[in-house]
Amino acid sequence: MKTPPVAPDYPDVIAALKKAEQMRIEFVANVSHELRTPLTSIKGYTETLLQDLEDGRKPDPEFLKIILKNSNRLLALINDLLDLSAIESGADELHPADLNLMEITQHVIKQLEPFAEAKRTTINVSVDTPKLNADPKRLEQVLTNLIDNAIKYCPNQSTITIQWSHEQNDTVLRVMDNGPGIAEKFLDRLFERFYRLDKGRSREMGGTGLGLSIVKHIMQRHEGSVTVESDVGVGTTFICRFPD
Ligand SMILES: Nc1ncnc2c1ncn2[C@@H]1O[C@H](COP(=O)(O)OP(=O)(O)OP(=O)(O)O)[C@@H](O)[C@H]1O
Ligand SMILES: [Mg+2]
Repeated sequence: MKTPPVAPDYPDVIAALKKAEQMRIEFVANVSHELRTPLTSIKGYTETLLQDLEDGRKPDPEFLKIILKNSNRLLALINDLLDLSAIESGADELHPADLNLMEITQHVIKQLEPFAEAKRTTINVSVDTPKLNADPKRLEQVLTNLIDNAIKYCPNQSTITIQWSHEQNDTVLRVMDNGPGIAEKFLDRLFERFYRLDKGRSREMGGTGLGLSIVKHIMQRHEGSVTVESDVGVGTTFICRFPD
């Protein structure tokens, strides 16, 4: 006698579809909101500048600076979104290479040095495992996003420690800081697109809340993972695992 096919678990499938649809709706709403804020400012200041010119008043160069700042914000947001969709869809192929971890880490730190110096942040690096086979551009992005966050969200004169080690069958990157930490109830959602703890503050610093979701997707493409451990008032550690 033929055994009947196993019935799919319809309630689970329906729940998953509903969740996906809900996420799509939220995503469109978030993107629209993030685009509207800088565009509204660009429109408002451009209208004021035009009015000043028409009325024979000298235009205020500060307004042009605000327009430029918001244009840069829009461009950064769109670049992050395009990047995220390229990584996520797999359209952007990985180009793995044997990387010297000290070299690539120092290279990223060099790019961020002006921000670190402005906040008198100390950055320590320890490399216990010299090499990793990974996509250099994507690994740079992971390092940049994590170190940039640590500089941005920690007070002046904080210390960041970047540590590379080999544990079991993984090459492990830790980016640790002694900043404000993140309460446990927020940790779950940290890697979601557009998720920010303090929306106002983060936006002021130019953040869109896409950095950690880009890190998550890059790690997934490398068949690895990213996790976070944090204690309020003690600091935060992001842990990336690249399987051998
Ligand atoms: N090291 C950290 N210490 C404290 N809070 C952090 C740290 N890293 C990230 N966060 C919190 O997690 C949120 C999400 O970070 P994420 O990098 O995804 O976005 P962002 O920095 O706000 O914007 P973007 O990276 O797109 O410029 C931040 O807004 C911040 O509130
Ligand atoms: Mg960030």
